[in-house]
Amino acid sequence: MDMRYSIIGLGKLGASMAAAIAKRGFQVIGVDVNKNAVDLLNNSEAPVQETNLEKTIKENKKRLRATLDINEAVLDTDVSFVIVPTPSDDRGAFSLDYARTAFQSIGKAIAIKKKYHNVVLTSTVLPGSTRFGLLPLLEQESGKVCGRDFGLCYSPEFIALGSVIHDFLNPDFTLVGEFDERAGGMLEKCYEQIMENNSPCKRMTIENAELTKIALNSFVTMKISFANMLANFCQFIPEGDVDVVTDALGADQRIGHKYLKGAIGYGGPCFPRDNKALAYTAQTFGLKADLAETTDYLNRSLPDKMIQSLKNLIKPGMTVAILGLAYKPDSHVVEESQGIYLARKLSEQGIRIVAYDPLAGETARGELENQIRIYTSISECLQQADVVMITIPDQIFKALKADDFRRPGLQEMIVIDFWRILYKKLINQPHITYIPVGRCIDDNTNSNRLAKLWADTNNI
Ligand SMILES: NC(=O)c1ccc[n+]([C@@H]2O[C@H](COP(=O)([O-])OP(=O)(O)OC[C@H]3O[C@@H](n4cnc5c(N)ncnc54)[C@H](O)[C@@H]3O)[C@@H](O)[C@H]2O)c1
Repeated sequence: MDMRYSIIGLGKLGASMAAAIAKRGFQVIGVDVNKNAVDLLNNSEAPVQETNLEKTIKENKKRLRATLDINEAVLDTDVSFVIVPTPSDDRGAFSLDYARTAFQSIGKAIAIKKKYHNVVLTSTVLPGSTRFGLLPLLEQESGKVCGRDFGLCYSPEFIALGSVIHDFLNPDFTLVGEFDERAGGMLEKCYEQIMENNSPCKRMTIENAELTKIALNSFVTMKISFANMLANFCQFIPEGDVDVVTDALGADQRIGHKYLKGAIGYGGPCFPRDNKALAYTAQTFGLKADLAETTDYLNRSLPDKMIQSLKNLIKPGMTVAILGLAYKPDSHVVEESQGIYLARKLSEQGIRIVAYDPLAGETARGELENQIRIYTSISECLQQADVVMITIPDQIFKALKADDFRRPGLQEMIVIDFWRILYKKLINQPHITYIPVGRCIDDNTNSNRLAKLWADTNNI
């Protein structure tokens, strides 16, 4: 018989997982404490903004419904994925408050359920949280025993916002942290049926899986920060070009091309907090996660260093237009975005800031508390600018032309292009001072500096 699934938490990850599992032909019940999310799903509308989510919900509405009642969902299904928020606290640890509430309710439902039920925690947590922080609640509330009466797994997903449905169904691997063979084996079979590719399943203990999840993000951010360091170096090498360097580096199979693009730092709801979580975890062991801490430090200090390096160009009285307030293209999410950070920091320094983002303007407005003017038209925004900062490689920004950076009465507009997306169009334009971060813009000065350095025999 086909498995039936409940998804507890219909947010950015859970809503897409619910739709994706229904798309693969399984019955899914979504649960949320937010009545609006439940009503939207029952109306075949997306509770959150995500690529193809509403379409997938509509196409699979026969197999998809939502409820506020966890009890009903647990009783009517075989496996529950718990995907509730685990917000970071001041120490960098992930709070289990939402997960505790959800596990208590699941425990109550298991108390009256006759059949085996597999509980799968998908939210990001620190090592030890599932077994020692949450399992006791399931056993207390149900009066039953894990392994005998119900199963428990920790199984996070590796997705990117904007492609959650695709990424969930086509992972590089699935990760199953299992309480025992029965629960892990059952979840592995579920994934075999749900996933569209034949991804390998990595099965392990719950704690190893909890560590793997945050370690993966920590490693990826270390790679991003490495490319950002190279981007900085390339500005001081005659004809330096970070894309040439990373393209060659990435051809080495030990390194690979993904997430190896020098630019501005990373942001979003996951990457920044996972390094802090790894550092906190190390601390609880009496150890230090130097690599994670350094990556976090480098990333957080990057926009300030950029502002510092541009201070001779951005003069008082100028207006800076920030193109891109989301943390990445095609996203409404502004959490830990570099665009928001730059807007806030420059505005605090008394610089007038205007901004444009194709999708995140509205969310950013709440975040920036009217500190800056956010335009709904890119050309109106550019008509205010003395300086333009392009913070994300969005298609709309890639389509800009040299003439878009003309303004009556302004001789030269300064364009700082963190992703070098307009290099061919803007370099050598007389009305633009173009600064492609990660590329050398003064070959002579840098050649002379190197010549001087190596002419001094003490350096050889
Ligand atoms: N968003 C991502 O890209 C991503 C990626 C990987 C992992 N995660 C992890 O997944 C978890 C959820 O993230 P998200 O971005 O989907 O969060 P979110 O805030 O978008 O959604 C969480 C949902 O859970 C609901 N909820 C809270 N308590 C509940 C309860 N007791 N019962 C039922 N529903 C409840 C909320 O109302 C909300 O709709 C977090 O631990 C996050 O770290 C997220």
